[in-house]
Formats: sequence, C-alpha cells, structure tokens
Amino acid sequence: MPDDTTRDFSRTLVTSALPYANGHIHLGHIAGAYLPADIYVRYQRLRGTKVLYVGGSDEYGVPITLTALKEGVTPQDVIDRYHTANADAFARLGISYDIYGRTSWDLHADTTQQFFRMLDAGGHIHQQEMELWYSPQLERFLPDRYVKGSCPRCGYTEANGDECESCGAQYTAKELVSPRSNVPGDDSSPVLRPSKHWFLNLPDFTERLKTWLDSHPEWRANVKGIAYGWVNDLRPRCITRDTDWGVPIPVDGDEAKAKRIYVWFDAPIGYVTNTRQWGMDTQGDAKAWELWWKDAGTRMLHFIGKDNVPFHAVIFPAMLMGQGGYNLADHVVGNEYLNIFNRRTGQSEKGSKSKGNMISVRWALDNFSVNAIRYYLCAIAPESKDADFDWDDFMNRYNGELCDVVGNFAHRSLTMTVKNFDGRVPEPGEIEAGDAAMLNAIGEQAEAIAEAMEGFRFRQAIERFIDLGRKANVYFDAMQPWVTRKTDLARTATTLYVCCQVVRGLCVLMAPFMPEGAAKLAGILNVTLPQGGPDGGSDAWKLLVEPLAAGAPLNTPEVLFPKLDKDVLAELAEVHLRGEAY
Ligand code: MF3
Ligand code: ZN
Repeated sequence: MPDDTTRDFSRTLVTSALPYANGHIHLGHIAGAYLPADIYVRYQRLRGTKVLYVGGSDEYGVPITLTALKEGVTPQDVIDRYHTANADAFARLGISYDIYGRTSWDLHADTTQQFFRMLDAGGHIHQQEMELWYSPQLERFLPDRYVKGSCPRCGYTEANGDECESCGAQYTAKELVSPRSNVPGDDSSPVLRPSKHWFLNLPDFTERLKTWLDSHPEWRANVKGIAYGWVNDLRPRCITRDTDWGVPIPVDGDEAKAKRIYVWFDAPIGYVTNTRQWGMDTQGDAKAWELWWKDAGTRMLHFIGKDNVPFHAVIFPAMLMGQGGYNLADHVVGNEYLNIFNRRTGQSEKGSKSKGNMISVRWALDNFSVNAIRYYLCAIAPESKDADFDWDDFMNRYNGELCDVVGNFAHRSLTMTVKNFDGRVPEPGEIEAGDAAMLNAIGEQAEAIAEAMEGFRFRQAIERFIDLGRKANVYFDAMQPWVTRKTDLARTATTLYVCCQVVRGLCVLMAPFMPEGAAKLAGILNVTLPQGGPDGGSDAWKLLVEPLAAGAPLNTPEVLFPKLDKDVLAELAEVHLRGEAY
C-alpha cells in the first residue's frame, strides 16, 4: 500500500540498529539495516525533507566482555577497536550518518539512567529474586553467554544461558540442561544461586502497544507478526545483569553496585543519546534533540534486521511510553536475512562466524567498488523474504544492469555529444513524439521511484531506475545518432540533447543508491546535486523538469562503472570459500 504520510510531517528521524562493537560489520548487516536506511535518507535529503540519520556502536553486553576475556584484553580495547573499524567501514561504504555515536559515552549513561528512573517513578520497575548460574571457581555469576548447555526445548548442545540460537527458544537460566561455564579456564560446574534483579513490567503497556500497532496497517507483515506475537504474551522482563560492564543502575545500595543495566535496555536509548550529542556538536544546543524525539511534526523510522523487531516494535516503544512526551516510531522497517549461496555445495547458508562464510564490509571494499556493492545489495535486498548473496549473480547483475544499461547509455551519449558538438549540450531542433516520450519518461520513472521509496520498497525503486536506462537505450538505438550524424546533423542534435537530459535525470535518480557514481557523473555534467540535511533544502525532483541548457559545457566522459572480470571474481569467490573474506 502506498505510504504517503511523509508529506504531513515537517521532519524525519531515521535510525539504523546500533551494531555491536564486537566484530566487523558484514554484508548481511548492510543489506538489512544500513543500506536501505541510507538510501532512504539520501532520497529524503535530495527531496529537501529535513532528515536526521542517527547511528552508532552498541558497546555493552556479555559478548564484548567474553571477547575481551578470550583475547586477554579489556572490554574497552575491544570496543575501541571495533567502533573505529566499523565507523570507517560505514564511511567508506557511503553510509551517511549525521552522527555515529557510542553507548560507552558518559552522556549515554545519563540518558539511560533518566529512562530507568522515569519508569521506576511510574511504578513500572520492580525487583525480584531469581535463581542464576554461579561459578564456584570464579566466584561470580555467569550471565547470558557466560554459561552454555543444552536447550530445554530442542536439545541443541551449544545453547546460551537464556536463549537457544538453534530453535530461537527463550527460557529462564535454571531451565538450561547440563550447564557448563563458557569462561576460559573455569572448570567448575555452575551451581544455582539466588540473585535479585530489576524487572520492567511490560504488561503495563499491553493495551497502549496494541492500539499503537493497530494504527499501523501499512507495516510489513513480517514485522507486525513478530510484534503481535510479543504483545499478546507480555511478561515482566529482567533489565539488569550480574556484570560490571554496562550502565550503572541508578539505585542506592550495594545490591545495585555489583550489577549493571542490561544491554538491551540501554542500546535503543543510544538513539536518543546520539541525537543529544549531535545537537550539542552541531548547534551547541543541549535541547536540540527534543524537537526530533518529542515534536509531533517529527516522523520516526527504525531500520533493523528481523531479530531486532521485538526490541523496536514492542520493548523500546513501551520504554518510551513510560517516559511521557516521546513520539513512537511511525514505521519499523524490519528486514529478513541475507544468506550466502555456497557454490561448492549448491546450498544457501546462514551467515555465521563459525562457518566462516561472512563477507566483511572492509574486505568487500578492498576488492570491489562501492557502486558495485551498493547496487547489488539493494537489487537483492531481503525485504519481504530472505535473499541469497551469490557471486555469479553479483557479477551478472552488476555487469548486465548497472554497467551495460546505465553506464553504457551515459557513456555513449556523452562521448558522442562531446565529440560532435564541441563538448556542449547541443541545441535541439524540433522535438518529435519519440523525443517527447523519452523526456516524459524521466519524470514518470522519478515518480515511480518516489512511490517505491516512500513505501520502503528499495528493490523496486532501483529496478525503476534501471528501467529508465533501458528505455533510454531503446530510444538511442531507434534514433541511431551514429547514422544520422552523417546525414542529418540537426536530427542528431535533437537526439543527443534528449540523451543529455536523460543522463542528467539518471544522475539525480542514481544519487541515493550510488552516491559515488552520481557525484562523478555530476562532475562530468557540471551539475550540482542538492545536499539537503537536517535543515532541509531544495527538491531535486523539481530540477528534473528543468532541462540542462543547450550550450552548457560538458567535461570529458569517463567510464562510471567498470565491469567485473570473470576470472578476478572467480578468484575472490575462492578466497571467500576459504573463509578469508572477513
Ligand atoms: N546491537 C544489536 C544487534 O546487533 C542491535 C541493537 S539496536 C539498538 O543486534 F538500537 F537497540 F541498539
Ligand atoms: Zn533450542
């Protein structure tokens, strides 16, 4: 269903899930939560909408302290390493955050504690004693992944303390069968010990959550299904852990001192923290963030992978309801998974560290252009069902669509124009029906792209973009400017004038998907693309209807999208199969 609600809002806040600073981001992450958000944000900037894009690292939690323990370094070392690496990978990939923050910031402890206190004051937090696994040798509790065992539902032997990655079951720690410590060097058998924790009383919010979810029939079915599943069965949720790595619990006494707030409580609050920091950095205004979180004219969108749906469509909204005055998400864009097609076995596999089949962003960027990566990941985006990353498909789609259709059209149009018309956009003669149809197609495709973008259908949007290139090639082939050049120079001028307009249209329409390609093309055409941002700007779609003036100078055309070589690609696919693409 088309979603035209954007127009009623004055500004848009976009978030992408904060990746754990516990490993390098990989292409699966990108296809799910980051590239679609970035394309959307770039599109809105191009349209002149006021848009703010917030991201950052998620730096607390047990996986990070476990990595530190296993490597013999501090958790701070781990997060510094991966925060820097991931911020760099995002920048190289053109993911255009307005701020990329960190949950280890002091400011974040402040925001998180405010959230906790407010929920507590509203009577939504209570304490409860639980039985948790404890290591007699280490004399400490073993939260989450610090303990492993067999899943009480499916029997998987590598299950975590509170959830099974094999069947997805969640359970209380003491249900875990045959527990063993996951801390290197700890040979003792875990025992159950009582520990008091803080719980968020989610059932307090059931009715409000239902009403809010009911008001969004336009969300994707996968997101709604997961969200209703949770809302129909809400229970109090433990929001603290026995660890010293996390935001301190804002409660007096020794009991609170030995524990920290659970990472899944503080992480989404990171969006708020990072907006606060952005306001101070850019405007020196400690209150600038409130416009983006509390003003009714702000639209809020979360882009995430499907494993994050319960947090963004249920738990975080409940936490926001408990604050008072905050907006709730207008759309939770939850994506399915990008799997990996294994060319040796002919099977599609889930990306996993243990299989060694993941492709890190930094490795991909060392070997491929950012245009090729962004094109392919958008073309196969796992929007409503899982998708497969496949090397042959990567090459065929990039070479056959972006290079052969769009790149080739732009190149032949521009070289022929520059050569025959003295490096300038030619003066058109009479515009005939075929020319007019071609010119109209620019606006028609732009509208189709806009509609797909507003509905978060990015695969469809990029297809519409390629469609314009296909139409342009059909036009070019029918007009045969390489033939008319010798017989009818006026006709050739009109054809190439039209082609220049299409190339300019392609340049604008390309910008959200392949900003690097668009910038290069804009340089050749001497056009300036509107930058946009949190303060808004001009609408590039309006620019599309104003033609590039006859006589305007063009710069020397360059190949925008060099083709991928089959042999090089085969070699890189082998590197991936050996588990070395991460
Ligand atoms: N770090 C989490 C993950 O990678 C995502 C957190 S999203 C947040 O699954 F917004 F809640 F931080
Ligand atoms: Zn299981």
